[in-house]
Amino acid sequence: MEYLVEMKNMTMKFPGVVALNKVSFNLRPGEVHVLLGENGAGKSTLVKMLSGINKPTEGEIVIGGKTYSSLTPKESAENKIAIIYQELSVVDELTIAENLYVGKLPYKKLAGLKLVDYKYMNGEAKKYMDEIGLKKSPSTLVQDISISEKQQVEIAKALAAKARIIIMDEPTSSLSIEETEELFRIIRRLKENGIGIIYISHKLKEIKEIGDRVTVLKDGGYVDTKDVEDLEVEDLIPMMVGRKITGDHLGDREQIEKDNEVIFKVENLTRRDKTARNISFEVRKGEILGFGGLIGAGRSECMEGIFGAKPISSGKIYLRGREIKIKNTYSALKQGIAMVTENRRETGFFQNFNIWKETSVTTNLKKSKAGGLTGLLNEKAEREIAEEEVRTLNTKCSGVDQMTVNLSGGNQQKVIIGKWLAVDSDVFIFDEPTKGIDVGAKAEIYNIMREMANAGKAIIVVSSEMPELLKTCDRIIVFRNGEISGILNSEEATEEKIMFAAVAVD
Ligand SMILES: Nc1ncnc2c1ncn2[C@@H]1O[C@H](COP(=O)(O)OP(=O)(O)OP(=O)(O)O)[C@@H](O)[C@H]1O
Ligand SMILES: [Mg+2]
Repeated sequence: MEYLVEMKNMTMKFPGVVALNKVSFNLRPGEVHVLLGENGAGKSTLVKMLSGINKPTEGEIVIGGKTYSSLTPKESAENKIAIIYQELSVVDELTIAENLYVGKLPYKKLAGLKLVDYKYMNGEAKKYMDEIGLKKSPSTLVQDISISEKQQVEIAKALAAKARIIIMDEPTSSLSIEETEELFRIIRRLKENGIGIIYISHKLKEIKEIGDRVTVLKDGGYVDTKDVEDLEVEDLIPMMVGRKITGDHLGDREQIEKDNEVIFKVENLTRRDKTARNISFEVRKGEILGFGGLIGAGRSECMEGIFGAKPISSGKIYLRGREIKIKNTYSALKQGIAMVTENRRETGFFQNFNIWKETSVTTNLKKSKAGGLTGLLNEKAEREIAEEEVRTLNTKCSGVDQMTVNLSGGNQQKVIIGKWLAVDSDVFIFDEPTKGIDVGAKAEIYNIMREMANAGKAIIVVSSEMPELLKTCDRIIVFRNGEISGILNSEEATEEKIMFAAVAVD
């Protein structure tokens, strides 16, 4: 069978790291070929060779009857390859149609003047939008649509560019269950039109649902390629991990008694922009408190309000019975509150820092007086802290001198978690902590949370993955439309009950 693309013996060396070692991969028309592997296995590195970002050290890419040793971004586009990154690259300030035609706007001549032919452009854009079922006007500004619709704009853009190969790197990590179903519907339609899709995800269930073949990578090496039909989800884990996962041996829960000390308490908190309203809850000693609900229900907004990242119009916050005033994130940190934010690209880490500098940011900030990085810097101690966090979280890197930006997505996330673990805090807010994290590492992170809770820290976990909430939390607060719509104990909580509280029943 004719392949859309064939990659043979691809090797990619970065200074100090062999990211890929003789990996082969091919894609057939009309199939979804899943790339699977732990954090740092080399999945993104491989697809970036197709989009023209990575220049392979060795290997051949055969496409359209031609053999390349590497592709430029231009050659990638000419060969009808489109890549949809997790950090979507649509332009918020432009309309949907303009995004589809950015860089190649259609022009018309009017009285000798060259003008953008909006009528033609909007008409064409509408065709592609209809093809994937995006029900918006082509002249809608992209800033006014949801994340999942932005992703659909990216797909429409790939169609407008007549893509034959579409690469999706963790496309569902910010999507709700319904939005994921919608994406799968679109993918099935793309397949019918003979488009080949390379699909990267850490959600193993998705592979069974949408994948045709799966190729597993491990530590930059090729493991195997299989038909999904012949596999069970459980078969995939040993292929990618090669070691036992301790997921079901979560640290023992300490008995949480009603009279356990209340470590952290929030009373009637309302954000100035009203995205979270009348929020009251408490976290007792030894407890992990979960926050469930649909994406956009106001959970992150609530946490930003607590952490001083966004203004609140009312509300009281107590730490160990004493009221604290949080003016900004620095003041939150000073008073013992740590927060791992959801959006790691924007608020997560410094682009120009290596791992040890990144890890010590929080510690230095907490030590400093003015809120700047004026604390006494002690490189040796800082390196030690970073090395300890790298060990604790099993972060895959060449050493603490490696730049965070050069780590794989999941390992970047571990560095961010590490810098918050490094600073001694009483309250830890984790917003979507395992987004982009592989199955093995997830289990490790849950264990760490449990240990922290047992050590008397208040742990708050915001997660859109219900199995994660059910597995890790002692109580689950459900949000709907900016307000608390339900509180469930771990014994009684089920996915159905969470969903029921999360979705409006009018
Ligand atoms: N620009 C770079 N410079 C140095 N090392 C890099 C660079 N890009 C990637 N690497 C390294 O290559 C390896 C593979 O990374 P890659 O991003 O492909 O992993 P991944 O399989 O996509 O993982 P994840 O699931 O965490 O996204 C990692 O060890 C990473 O640190
Ligand atoms: Mg990746």
